[in-house]
Amino acid sequence: MAGMYSAKVMDHFMNPRNVGELENPSGVGEVGNPKCGDIMRMSLQIEDNVITDVKFKTFGCGAAIATSSMATTLIKGKTVEEALKLTNKAVVEALEGLPPVKIHCSVLAEQAIKAALADYYRKNGVDPEPIVGKLEEDCHACDEHGCGSH
Ligand code: FES
Repeated sequence: MAGMYSAKVMDHFMNPRNVGELENPSGVGEVGNPKCGDIMRMSLQIEDNVITDVKFKTFGCGAAIATSSMATTLIKGKTVEEALKLTNKAVVEALEGLPPVKIHCSVLAEQAIKAALADYYRKNGVDPEPIVGKLEEDCHACDEHGCGSH
């Protein structure tokens, strides 16, 4: 099975970077994956518009761990605007690919970062929606109708 994954994915899965939770984060985002029901929580420390620290916690699979780990290393030291532009595609590329069935896992990291940035904007009195866009922070439709059953 391990052969499906690149060395980079295995490295970030075995030694994930930036795992945990920040004590006084500037923004926190938690999202659920409608495809599998897994959860991701991302906390950001932002000073002078720059992400100085980031930590994640996930109740997700190995691919979710690897993509979040890679995503945190890609946004650390970047500005808020740069972090907003990070796509799951860029994270997957940095990991040298993921099996197609695992692409949805990488969306979790992107969405959690966006949710944390939205929280940061909100805390600063800025409406995040025009900047971050609409986010499915959790999938109520899935809770109600049972995701995957249709
Ligand atoms: Fe749920 Fe990968 S299967 S995040």
